[in-house]
Amino acid sequence: MSFHFSALALLALTLTVLLAASEASKVARLHRIAIHRSANFKRSQKAVVAERDLVQTKYGQNKTQSLSQKANGYPVEPLSNFDNYQYYGNISIGTPPQYFMVQFDTGSSNLWIPSTSCTSAGCADHQTYNQTASSSYQANGTYFSITYGTGSVSGYLAVDSVSVGGLTVASQKFGQVYTEIGTNFVDALFDGILGMGFPALAADGVVPVFQNMINQGLVANPVFSFYLRDNGSTVNYGGELILGGSDPSLYRGGLTYVPVSQPAYWQFITDSIKIGSTVVSVGDAAIADTGTSLIIAPQADFDTIAAIFSADSNGVFYCTSTKSMPDLVINIQAVEFRIPASYYVERDGSECQLLIQSINQNFWIMGDVFLGRFYTEFDVGNQRLGFAPVNGAFSLSQIGLWKILALVMAFMAGLWW
Ligand SMILES: *[C@@H]1O[C@H](CO)[C@@H](O)[C@H](O)[C@H]1NC(C)=O
Ligand SMILES: *[C@@H]1O[C@H](CO)[C@@H](O)[C@H](O)[C@H]1NC(C)=O
Ligand SMILES: *[C@@H]1O[C@H](CO)[C@@H](O)[C@H](O)[C@H]1NC(C)=O
Ligand SMILES: *[C@@H]1O[C@H](CO)[C@@H](O)[C@H](O)[C@H]1NC(C)=O
Ligand SMILES: *[C@@H]1O[C@H](CO)[C@@H](O)[C@H](O)[C@H]1NC(C)=O
Repeated sequence: MSFHFSALALLALTLTVLLAASEASKVARLHRIAIHRSANFKRSQKAVVAERDLVQTKYGQNKTQSLSQKANGYPVEPLSNFDNYQYYGNISIGTPPQYFMVQFDTGSSNLWIPSTSCTSAGCADHQTYNQTASSSYQANGTYFSITYGTGSVSGYLAVDSVSVGGLTVASQKFGQVYTEIGTNFVDALFDGILGMGFPALAADGVVPVFQNMINQGLVANPVFSFYLRDNGSTVNYGGELILGGSDPSLYRGGLTYVPVSQPAYWQFITDSIKIGSTVVSVGDAAIADTGTSLIIAPQADFDTIAAIFSADSNGVFYCTSTKSMPDLVINIQAVEFRIPASYYVERDGSECQLLIQSINQNFWIMGDVFLGRFYTEFDVGNQRLGFAPVNGAFSLSQIGLWKILALVMAFMAGLWW
């Protein structure tokens, strides 16, 4: 009897150690980039409205116009202003490496960085790329221009090596900004933007950074994922961008997968969206956009939500507490994704403001209000998105779940011997 138990325990121990080893090697092959976020973040009413207007420019209310702008240069890509959520991380370009803070933006597909030759005020406070100082720089020279709500940035395409999270892409094409006029780039905490949308969204047929990582065999799997922490004072650890897969210790339960309905933006179809039990929309498309902080709703859906709260057109209403307010419920593939009101309503004394806004578009945009609650896997290979509630408390990978399990099993095996 006792022999059987010992043999069983030994078998379990062996299996656990083997599993731990395979799990550890899987996690070891993931490349992690720490995501930083703005220190003095406060969502003022002005900031929310300002960001809504910027998102409107990014997605272009007039599709015809935005497509023709795209043909001339890059897609419209607004920058967050100082008061908005800004998630950004460290990358390097060139040989020897020149370091830049970039916003990882799943809502666009190009990489751009200011050039050392840029004399505009917006470039002055940022790291700039010096092509002369890089031995791996290759000239291209094609002119590009990016239009913003209030201004534009323009410059020339260049080619150089780009490193993100320890992975180095050879011959990456990107935009070097030479001029910026009338933007609020001066206040941005990041130097440039690294687009993580699909190639179809990229201007000038430029191959996006992550697509090159796949093409050059740098990632174990054609998958990246975002873990964004959405809590107050965290400056240096705002989350992680993981290249090559997902870290299951950062979310609870399994990922719910949904196909990408149109591989340009990271667009998918929702079953329904509700406020508490009130159905707001059924079967609407939504876009997962790490470069946007708010949730953006189609106008009619925003009107429905505003009516529930008796909010004005900016989503402002009187309130005493967010505690009694209903959850925002997003149904995806028959799974409920709930966001408590304390996350989608910003309260300032007796005034509340919805962090759900509208730009008169017929799809939803799920920014950080959503992505901060749900770990998101961007699966390029299978053209699908995976969502799961974030494991906010701690990261099991730091503790080593398998180590603990192995120890427990070893202990039990010891008891039986
Ligand atoms: C959209 O843009 C096109 C091209 O610039 C223009 O001809 C058209 O009038 C615009 N439509 C609206 C509704 O603004
Ligand atoms: C980016 O990373 C490099 C190398 O680790 C480091 O020297 C540099 O200070 C970092 N930049 C910022 C702004 O943290
Ligand atoms: C760019 O790099 C070159 C070569 O290292 C150097 O001579 C030049 O001063 C740098 N330019 C700027 C503006 O830093
Ligand atoms: C520069 O890049 C553009 C856009 O990808 C491409 O069409 C053009 O041929 C390139 N020019 C050179 C000189 O490599
Ligand atoms: C967020 O921050 C507040 C205040 O610092 C803290 O009480 C709360 O537990 C934090 N929540 C999470 C999910 O970390």
